[in-house]
Amino acid sequence: MTLDTAAVKADFPLLNNLINDRPIIYLDSGATSQKPQQVLDALNHYYEHLNANVHRGAYYLAAAATDATENARLRVANFINAPADREIIFTKNATEAINLVSYTWGRANLNAGDVVLISSLEHHANIVPWQQLAAEKGCEVRWIPLTDDGQLDLTDLDRMLEGVKMVAISAASNVLGTLPPVRLLADAAHAVGALCLVDASQWVPHRPTDVAEFDCDFLVFTGHKMCGPTGIGVLWGRAELLEAMPPFLGGGEMILNVTQEGFTANEIPWKFEAGTPPIAEMIGLGAAVDYLENLGMENIVAHETQLTGYALRTLGDRFGEDLIIHGPQDLTIRGGVLSLCYKDVHPHDLSQVLDERGVCVRAGHHCAKPLMRLLGVGATARASLYLYNDESDVDALADALEAAGQFFAF
Ligand code: ALA
Repeated sequence: MTLDTAAVKADFPLLNNLINDRPIIYLDSGATSQKPQQVLDALNHYYEHLNANVHRGAYYLAAAATDATENARLRVANFINAPADREIIFTKNATEAINLVSYTWGRANLNAGDVVLISSLEHHANIVPWQQLAAEKGCEVRWIPLTDDGQLDLTDLDRMLEGVKMVAISAASNVLGTLPPVRLLADAAHAVGALCLVDASQWVPHRPTDVAEFDCDFLVFTGHKMCGPTGIGVLWGRAELLEAMPPFLGGGEMILNVTQEGFTANEIPWKFEAGTPPIAEMIGLGAAVDYLENLGMENIVAHETQLTGYALRTLGDRFGEDLIIHGPQDLTIRGGVLSLCYKDVHPHDLSQVLDERGVCVRAGHHCAKPLMRLLGVGATARASLYLYNDESDVDALADALEAAGQFFAF
């Protein structure tokens, strides 16, 4: 079964607005998704009926707010098949989750000469924290190269794994749509005694996620790309690793006891959740999980795969060699992220002309500058598909591209 996109679209109030009398063709879900009414209602319900701080009060509201956030943690754990909800750490976003691991696990476990292996298609969030760690510890950040069609080139993997203590890899590229072989890389990491962190920011919103199937050690993702609010992300980690890691931020909630001499850290997950957490956002993320589960992740991936195939065919047929769509063309190893270079039109100019027709795409380097250099471009215009998009959105993109071609023709 795939999705009834008309019914799905009706759930998203923003998509039912007009801008300059035109419908909104939202093709930037890679940057952030729109939010369904069910998530907006959950946020409002918290503020209207439950608003109190969590883990700090004995009165009814405080207990109800605490239950609501801990229940959201449980639903998030189930959503990714985590063995225990205490392995779910709420963070601000995926970036903070990676920083937490590099800062705590990395500083406690890596030494001069150790290697962190990442790929050439990583987002800056999965590059810079490791570079910061490497600069401080005298480690090396090593890069897995790419094939011409944007897959990981693993020909030399055995040699690349020498000295590696951490393999940190994206499960889905935010630029190319590539779906790297995460399980293979996790197995390869473990075979040399390394750990594997998966940046699943562009995976979890789109595909069923099972940390046991990935067999990774850490997995990070963010709420706002999966129909949830901004300001909430997730770090999942194996309990024994999280328990051994020192705390990240210090403050309230992350302690069991504080004296003038020092402190003892709380148990996981709270050890890593210093200060008042993003309470409404946790609850909103729980509602987003419910929303996605009600639609069915299998249905979502089937719908997106079908739509990505339609987009590749339509754009290929209509624009031929005038339009480069970066990344693999094989639907079994790519998701619905389409990075476009059209004739010699600058991506920013292109996105402005598309915007005049209501088509929202992201133009720029997509926080992946090393990848842009490998592609030989400064920027692309990126259309990214999600559960509320349908063929009419792809047709609108194609029509708008054609209009842009005419506008910039001379
Ligand atoms: N990481 C987000 C993107 O790819 C913001 O657009």
